[in-house]
Amino acid sequence: MTLLASWLRSVLGESARLQALAAETVILERERDRAESLPNQLRAQFGGDRGAALGTAIEGAWTVHLHPERAEGHVGIWGPSGAGKSYFAILLLQFLLRSGVRRFVIADPKAETVELAKRLIVDFAKRLPSHEAESFLGRVVCLDLFGASTLPRLQVLAPQEGLDPEIHAFTVANLITNELDNGGLGVRQEPIFHRVIEALIRARLPLTVLPTALAAPELLDALAEAHEPAPLFRALAARLRKESRDRILGLVSRTERLLRLRQVRLALGGSPDCIDFTKLLDDRITLINLAPPHGSTDVGRFLAGLIWVQLNHAIRRRPNGSEPAYVCVDEWPTFLSAGGASLADTFEDLLRMARSKGVFLTVLSQDLASVAKVSRSIVDVVRNNLHLQAIFRAQDAGAWDFALPVSGTRMRPPGPPWEEYRPGYLDRGAELTLLREQLLRLPDRTCYLVDRRGGLPGLLMRTADVRLEATVSEVRALEERAAASGAVATVAELAAGEQKVTRMVERLLGVAPQEDSEMIASARQRWASRPMGMG
Ligand SMILES: Nc1ncnc2c1ncn2[C@@H]1O[C@H](COP(=O)(O)OP(=O)(O)OP(=O)(O)O)[C@@H](O)[C@H]1O
Ligand SMILES: [Mg+2]
Repeated sequence: MTLLASWLRSVLGESARLQALAAETVILERERDRAESLPNQLRAQFGGDRGAALGTAIEGAWTVHLHPERAEGHVGIWGPSGAGKSYFAILLLQFLLRSGVRRFVIADPKAETVELAKRLIVDFAKRLPSHEAESFLGRVVCLDLFGASTLPRLQVLAPQEGLDPEIHAFTVANLITNELDNGGLGVRQEPIFHRVIEALIRARLPLTVLPTALAAPELLDALAEAHEPAPLFRALAARLRKESRDRILGLVSRTERLLRLRQVRLALGGSPDCIDFTKLLDDRITLINLAPPHGSTDVGRFLAGLIWVQLNHAIRRRPNGSEPAYVCVDEWPTFLSAGGASLADTFEDLLRMARSKGVFLTVLSQDLASVAKVSRSIVDVVRNNLHLQAIFRAQDAGAWDFALPVSGTRMRPPGPPWEEYRPGYLDRGAELTLLREQLLRLPDRTCYLVDRRGGLPGLLMRTADVRLEATVSEVRALEERAAASGAVATVAELAAGEQKVTRMVERLLGVAPQEDSEMIASARQRWASRPMGMG
């Protein structure tokens, strides 16, 4: 009996042990699958050999590829100075060029990304058959806002198709008041700017006439004789006369501050027309260098705002379903802050509209905090609506949780030596904290690459080497060639255009009634005696 019982017990015990073993094996396999599934999914998203090699996965050392279908989307590149954002943007651009994209704009307030792009273009052209290289290089337009020999035609007050003069005036006035306000001058929402700029638009005069138009209401009276609606010009002149003289002179001197550089006055006031950014977007490769001379950050920001407004408008005017075009904006917060919160708040709308019009934006920024400074609502828009994001080392690590691959299967790291190590998994909260800390310390050229369309977190990777061979003289040759484009004019041409405007304004002031002659004289003197070499 006892023998039978002990036999039974051993058989039952053995089967319970086997059952427990089997259950344990299932759990372990499930855990392993879970642990492996995220890397596998990320590898399915960015692995294989289709598209462009962007870098190498930190885990597994496989080559990270951007598949062609993922390129049609808006991109955000984030990280501190030196992290590798510009070079990453160049990798993307290289991919676009190789995929046959020939329509893109790069706007850069530091000139670095634009310089890299020029070298990339030269290198790329060398790989093309000669006739193709010719037409490819012929598409390149270089707009150097502070150039020495050529400048873009930026008569931003030239009437634009489909743009109501009142709205047109509002966007430009907004940029000016916003820039003056950035300097703490307290002129936010200055309605006088808005109205006077509207009058200049209707009279086809450039922004460089703004200080004179403010100081000498006689100019508006004279314009009423030849431009519609005459009552608008006259009412505005009357209103300016009623304003305190000190206040007006304050506005004049602040506006002149923004127009203090000769290149800016020539670009804004030397040509009767403005570059059509819609056309540039349609069939050009446009490189915009906005790097201001030393001590002129305010002017650089103001021009960045003007370019941003022009690009916004060009995107909106594009027909739906147009051929894909790409717009890359380095130091994006500079453009945003120039436009102010009202423009920033339309960014979500712009992203949506751009997509349906075939325009894909790439924005580069040091962090999200500088974006949040312009508008709080834009932060979520950026996080959720930019399809592809490359997140380098981040000071605001808590802003990027969506990119951090919390798996629930990360082993607990060993504690201090005096504590007994208990193997096991970190809970999700602790894992997130660990990943945030790692994000704060990522080395240069290491980033999380996330595709927001896939619902997966980011893939940690090191960016691929960018090797550019173009020499300085080859880049200069490209620039000289691009200077032949109709979008730019020589300094001499623009100076002649500016003279023409000056003479016209003088003529108009000459026929104005002679009341308040001191003010007119000062306006005339200011206009005539502006030193051409200034700036
Ligand atoms: N993919 C790369 N291939 C080769 N060198 C690179 C790469 N990425 C970065 N570097 C090196 O690191 C430096 C800094 O990179 P990059 O200019 O892209 O930084 P950034 O994030 O754009 O900085 P900033 O915000 O100051 O513009 C480069 O000058 C280059 O020497
Ligand atoms: Mg850079």
